[in-house]
Amino acid sequence: MKRLVVMLVLSTLVAACGGESGDGPELLGQELFHEIVVGGKAGCGSCHSIEAGKDGVGPSLAGVGTAAAGRVTGLAAADYLRQSITEPDSFVVEGFNAGVMPRGWELSDEQIESLVDYLLGL
Ligand code: HEC
Repeated sequence: MKRLVVMLVLSTLVAACGGESGDGPELLGQELFHEIVVGGKAGCGSCHSIEAGKDGVGPSLAGVGTAAAGRVTGLAAADYLRQSITEPDSFVVEGFNAGVMPRGWELSDEQIESLVDYLLGL
C-alpha cells in the first residue's frame, strides 16, 4: 500500500513537470535544438554553439535573431531563419561551406516554427 502511494505521488510529479502542453513554442524550439538527434539528423547543437565567437562545424548562432534580419535583402528575420533550416544552401554564411548542414529534416511545420522562434530570441 505504501508503495502504491509513493508511485502515485511520483507519477503526479512527473505529469506536472513533463509534457509539452504548457511549453511555449520557444521552449519547444530550445528542446529540439539541443536534441542529440532531431528530425532524423545530427542535432543542431552538434554543429552550432549558442555562445558568441564559438564556431563549430557551423557558425555560432549567438545573436542570429538579430543578424538574420540583415542576411538577405527583402527577407525578414523569421523567413531567413526558416529558409536556413529548410534550404541551408540558399544563403551560405561567409567563411563556411555549402553542403555541410543537413537538409531534408523530418520536422513538422510546427517544429520548424518553434526552432525559428527559439533562434529569433538568441
Ligand atoms: C552537420 C553540421 C550542422 C548541423 C547538424 C546543423 N547545421 Fe546549421 N549550419 C551548418 C553550417 C556549416 C552552416 C553555414 C553554412 C550555411 O550557411 O549553410 C549553417 C548555417 C545555419 C544557419 C545560418 C546562420 C547565420 O548566421 O546566418 C542557421 C540559422 C542554422 N544553421 C540553424 C541550424 C538548425 C536550427 C539546425 C538543427 C535543426 C542546424 N542548423 C543543424 C552546419 C550544421
